[in-house]
Amino acid sequence: MSETAKLILEGKEYEFPVIEGSEQEKAIDISKLRGQTGHITIDPGFKNTGSTTSAITYLDGEEGILRYRGYAIEDLAEKADFLAVAYLLIYGELPNQTEYDNFVSKITRHTMVNEDMRKIFDGFPVNAHPMGVMSSLVSAMSGFYPESYSKNDMDNIDVHIMRLMAKFPTLATWCYKKSQGHPINYPQNKLDYCSNFLHMMFALPVEEYEVNPVVSKALNSLLILHADHEQNCSTSTVRLVGSSQANLYSSISAGISALWGPLHGGANQAVIEMLEAIKEDGGGVQKYLDKAKDKNDPFRLMGFGHRVYKNFDPRARIIKKSADEVLEALGIDDPVLDIARGLEEAALNDEYFIQRKLYPNVDFYSGIIYRALGIPVNMFTVMFAIGRLPGWIAQWLELRESGQAIGRPRQIYTGETAREFVEMSKRK
Ligand code: ACO
Repeated sequence: MSETAKLILEGKEYEFPVIEGSEQEKAIDISKLRGQTGHITIDPGFKNTGSTTSAITYLDGEEGILRYRGYAIEDLAEKADFLAVAYLLIYGELPNQTEYDNFVSKITRHTMVNEDMRKIFDGFPVNAHPMGVMSSLVSAMSGFYPESYSKNDMDNIDVHIMRLMAKFPTLATWCYKKSQGHPINYPQNKLDYCSNFLHMMFALPVEEYEVNPVVSKALNSLLILHADHEQNCSTSTVRLVGSSQANLYSSISAGISALWGPLHGGANQAVIEMLEAIKEDGGGVQKYLDKAKDKNDPFRLMGFGHRVYKNFDPRARIIKKSADEVLEALGIDDPVLDIARGLEEAALNDEYFIQRKLYPNVDFYSGIIYRALGIPVNMFTVMFAIGRLPGWIAQWLELRESGQAIGRPRQIYTGETAREFVEMSKRK
């Protein structure tokens, strides 16, 4: 007999099914709870609430395991190409050569952006944050492809997927180029995904630009590490928006906004700003550890702690190694890396951090690599978004194909009870 959970409420006993995932994770299925008991559950921040079943990404926070469609993140980051990983996430299997070539060729042929999008882009102030710009431009894409919402059919979804995957890096480089006062670069079809991005970012009309293979390889593995992370804040946002049958562009635009926050994707920017502040302050880390521990001080050690990983973040291990390799290969001596190492060591030996199981997360070292690659701080979260895009798409697709009902949480109301309307003249 399958396992059930019993609930005793107001003297009555109820039984709920327990469901089990392929990695033996268990959940009490309370979908009939309100109908049967009149009660709901409350779990602000969703620390104990599964919003869906999913076959895309498995992670075990206690053991530090992360797998996409069953493949270990360590293997994918070392051996795979970002577009192959994107294919894996979106379609469920690693592509064979023909599937890979087709996928890459379709994406390559969609990298140009409608010139009218430039008019929208040109209206942004030069110092607008690129995450706000990206969210707006991706939302605007729905206007250029109205069949994405007017037909609302899934038959042509592939072309929207290709467009997003292809144009997203192009749009990202527009933001950077504008901030520098440089002309934008058009994509180059002869280049691979990462090299094309680097070319659009850094090539200038006045000289040849050679893509450094070390830089391109590091970027490839950074994008893979960020490609999916199951039901995090931005992915849940994409799914929630998608559950209303909003089109793919609008749903991804909402995900970008969610990722922007400093407690989520914005942390990589916050980490570098924190490390820079420590450097300016003489480089001592103890003062900042004390601030992070002081409950009267809102300061948190950015890049530390994770909602799910409570032993270590497997991505942080890969990234730390990659940071060492990239800086060495590029001959960069970044004092901020030494501060980061010192801070990590001090925190990992500090009772406060040990007790709360706070470890460096993926963003603790990613900013250092981005900086070494020449990417400015305000573009860090955009880099995260480029990596996360296939994950958002895969999760959106899974949601739509599952036919899951519109997401609509409930609440417990704590406001005023019914009261008489008071005319303006009689209000105090
Ligand atoms: N510095 C100092 N204390 C911390 C930190 C930190 N970075 N993170 C958590 N804590 C403390 C909390 O104050 C709390 O202490 P208490 O039990 O004494 O009240 C305890 O550790 C548990 O923290 P919560 O905030 O309840 O943990 P939660 O799972 O809600 O938060 C989060 C996770 C948001 C990532 C948090 O650790 C944080 O703010 N970290 C810094 C921001 C960051 O690096 N974000 C990137 C996350 S990774 C990503 O999005 C890709």
